Amino acid sequence: MFHRLTALVLAAGLALPHAALADEAAEAAIGARKAQFQLFAFNLGVLGRMAQGRMPYDAEAAQTAADHLYHLTRQFNPALWPEGSDNASMEDTDALPVIWDDLEEFAGRYEDLQAQAETMQEAAGTDLAALQGAIGGLGGACSACHDDFRAE
Ligand code: HEC
Repeated sequence: MFHRLTALVLAAGLALPHAALADEAAEAAIGARKAQFQLFAFNLGVLGRMAQGRMPYDAEAAQTAADHLYHLTRQFNPALWPEGSDNASMEDTDALPVIWDDLEEFAGRYEDLQAQAETMQEAAGTDLAALQGAIGGLGGACSACHDDFRAE
């Protein structure tokens, strides 16, 4: 019985075309990177609402959001950006194929974000003026990359 099951599972696995296996890995990467961006947006949202006066400034909450964003942005993970996971090849992604023309340039934009997240981490808990001074650069690092590498 065990052998029969194993044989069936193996046969099913081998019958999967390579393209389907690659798609499965790409789908997992797309889901993970989108989840990471959602966490970026959640934390930026807290800081942005305080900066714009749509939420009262709270040093502790601001510092927490900035700390999370800092840690979430520490590593550019190439495994989240496998070749073939662009929006011309896959559904449910807005990643433009141009990312893979120059993955180093793309990673460079991510490094700009890391620097801005560090500036925000140093500013957020100080006072509202310091937070406001850092929000433009931080939001700008998000949009700079979206403008060039993300579909509308
Ligand atoms: C290095 C480039 C880059 C940087 C920096 C960047 N993004 Fe993105 N972002 C992208 C790309 C590319 C996508 C599309 C991902 C996909 O659909 O596979 C995306 C998608 C998103 C999404 C949509 C996720 C979803 O569920 O579809 C949100 C929200 C987002 N980014 C927020 C942010 C925020 C907030 C920042 C800054 C704190 C940021 N991003 C910085 C490249 C970047």
